[in-house]
Amino acid sequence: MSRNPWFESVAEAERRAKRRLPAMVYGALVAGSERGRTLETNRDAFAELGFAPVVAGHKADRDLATTIMGIESSLPVLISPTGVQAVDPEGEVAVARAAANRGVIMGLSSFASRSVEDVCAANPNVLFQMYWCGSREAMSERMERARKAGARGLIATLDWSFSHGRDWGSPTIPERIDVRTALRLSPGVLARPGWLWRFARTGKLPDLTVPNMTVGDGPAPTFFGAYGEWMQTPPPTWEDVAWLREEWGGPFLLKGVARVDDARRAVDAGVTALSVSNHGGNNLDTTPAAIRLLPSVAEAVGDQVEVLLDGGVRRGGDVAKALALGARAVLVGRAYLWGLAANGQAGVENVLDVLRGGLDSAVLGLGHSGVAELSPADLHVPPGFAVALGAG
Ligand SMILES: Cc1cc2nc3c(=O)[nH]c(=O)nc-3n(C[C@H](O)[C@H](O)[C@H](O)COP(=O)(O)O)c2cc1C
Repeated sequence: MSRNPWFESVAEAERRAKRRLPAMVYGALVAGSERGRTLETNRDAFAELGFAPVVAGHKADRDLATTIMGIESSLPVLISPTGVQAVDPEGEVAVARAAANRGVIMGLSSFASRSVEDVCAANPNVLFQMYWCGSREAMSERMERARKAGARGLIATLDWSFSHGRDWGSPTIPERIDVRTALRLSPGVLARPGWLWRFARTGKLPDLTVPNMTVGDGPAPTFFGAYGEWMQTPPPTWEDVAWLREEWGGPFLLKGVARVDDARRAVDAGVTALSVSNHGGNNLDTTPAAIRLLPSVAEAVGDQVEVLLDGGVRRGGDVAKALALGARAVLVGRAYLWGLAANGQAGVENVLDVLRGGLDSAVLGLGHSGVAELSPADLHVPPGFAVALGAG
């Protein structure tokens, strides 16, 4: 008898992903850096926060919808941009369809495996994500392409400092997966025939090119080719951030803010929103958990720009906690990647349903009629939990 494809938690989706994916693909999604401390604490810090539920007077109708940078969302949850290379043949298009079916905004990475045109055709609410990579002309061209495709906002991710080493070792990822490479990797790949079969049915092997990084009429570069260009690009100044925002001219989310002083500079640069984030623990290890950094940033700039959070969100209760501490919404990364790996588009829908169910339980248990009513009074926050960086 085949197992029920539905899963009840993100933890179960991750277990299934680990069973289905070749070790190198699973390892690429776990990611993390150095000791993996930030990766772990992002997730674990949510468990240190306690709920303060009420015993009666619960509300029968509860509103979980919100707007993010003026775009309606059925949930205060966005798909965080990730390059979901080689997880699923439909990749970001499957994620975009799942998000559209659940009324959720899709962040699309410029390092994604599917084009911004295909993804915008699958979801009307796409935010295109860019790093500071290449010349200003090349960046303008990529923005113009995303705008023409229908992207409604831009995400600028600037918190990357090329910290690659991992104490547990990084997976070997080839430049391209052709038949020869697949055979070379065969011990890991053949141990996961289900994964291979999903690609075999489409007649294609995983394609590690990044079509949204194309410049002019050139071919789509490989992931590593584009990554090399990014490493060689001089890092951006705050003037560059203001230029990027101006050049985009629409809703603009700066992703990767950890410090209060940076949050204030982001406001000065004219951003619409910022995400308190440490890149999911993939960047400078031992940066504190994103949820610990949220209260100070929300207090400093929350009345001027929309404050979001990403890092460690694995359940609807985590979403409620972030909102109670001042976030307007959260972005999720690994949570939907595990769903995608476990069961394709339906798996991503399943993850969004798990998050919706958990958030609704929290709003119900706390006696509220909507997410807008969540506040710090709903939580037990242990002394010393919150951390303010750059607030001096
Ligand atoms: C495999 C992987 C790839 C990622 N790629 C990108 C990317 O291309 N652009 C980006 O802005 N963030 C990227 N991120 C970071 C996520 O957008 C997000 O900040 C992070 O995953 C949030 O933490 P979480 O996974 O605990 O939810 C990536 C994260 C992972 C795990």
